[in-house]
Amino acid sequence: MTNPWFESGMADEPRCKRLRADRPEDIAYAASLLRAGKLVAMPTETVYGLAANALDPSAVAGIFAAKGRPADNPLIVHVAAPEDIQPLVRVFPPAAQRLAEAFWPGPLTIILPKSSQVPAIVSAGLGTVALRVPAHPAARALLRAAGLPLAAPSANLSGSPSPTTAAHVLADLDGRIAAVLDGGACGVGVESTVVTLAQATPCLLRPGGILPEALRAVLGELTISPAVTSALQADETAQSPGMKYKHYAPKAELTLLTGSLSAFIDYLNAQAEGGDGILCFDEEVAALEQGPWPVFSFGPQGNAAAQAQQLVARLRALDTAGVQRVFCHTPCAQGIGLAVYNRLLRAAGFREIIL
Ligand code: TXA
Ligand code: MG
Repeated sequence: MTNPWFESGMADEPRCKRLRADRPEDIAYAASLLRAGKLVAMPTETVYGLAANALDPSAVAGIFAAKGRPADNPLIVHVAAPEDIQPLVRVFPPAAQRLAEAFWPGPLTIILPKSSQVPAIVSAGLGTVALRVPAHPAARALLRAAGLPLAAPSANLSGSPSPTTAAHVLADLDGRIAAVLDGGACGVGVESTVVTLAQATPCLLRPGGILPEALRAVLGELTISPAVTSALQADETAQSPGMKYKHYAPKAELTLLTGSLSAFIDYLNAQAEGGDGILCFDEEVAALEQGPWPVFSFGPQGNAAAQAQQLVARLRALDTAGVQRVFCHTPCAQGIGLAVYNRLLRAAGFREIIL
């Protein structure tokens, strides 16, 4: 991938340092790198984030360059505690206060009107900023040690699945960033729930670990952006710029197949060829392994949380195995399953066949 910032030598990071989240001296070192304007990948409870000083536009420019991220896709700013939000926003409405009390620290991102302290590059020129107080102890320790708000998108090359291990980060970004803080595998496995409070009615822009029902219980009202389950129309403006990109995608072409296991098998027998990959639930592996294709499972059928946790590792494994086409048995979109379904739909470019 071309990366002018990297190729011009400005990102002079020959090898990414692998630091350990359980070592206080490594946290202190990572914090010093961040204060010096460098990029550090950090574990969060959702996925690994690629962090830089959110108040330093050139450090933030480094994030866009290292990921190859389009400049119109804004970043989430992470802070150690809810009170650190105040200087970054124009208003902190009561609804935000209630969400913060209920769900922070945790996998919820809140969008609010931004203050002039937030550089335009962070919010891609929008008048709003996305904010999150992560729960992962290493992210919290790093935020406290750095003493800075940290802009951090997922620590993958733009468009590829988010990383849930330090090895995933290194596979995408080694040579482009100063360090990765290894905190083991992430617990939630899908990116945070994103809700905007910068419009008349609160709106869910991205499903994640905090469920719509839980948000509604706190907010009273919540709309769900149509972009959660359907592709944007050509003339539609994205409420969240990330929605217009084909995200989270393996290199293989993915198709979702919705229906019973027997209908799934009938479809594969008619359409799939040896060399195509199959993505299914754990319980279906034995039946599907009768066919001539490699089978990957992403968790038990009834356990959406386990599916979320394993999803990106399986999407990455499909690419490692070199499969060109993947047929995936669609999971149930209940609870955190809505986030799993949303990520798969986007990985599939919204190609879903009802059997
Ligand atoms: O769990 C997470 O949210 C992870 C960890 C590292 O915190 N971060 C993450 O960041 O997933 P990223 O950049 O991969 O996704 C952020 C999403 C994008 O779809 C972006 O368009 C949207 O949030 N976003 C950020 N700022 C926004 C804003 N001001 N208005 C609307 N959408 C915004
Ligand atoms: Mg991302």
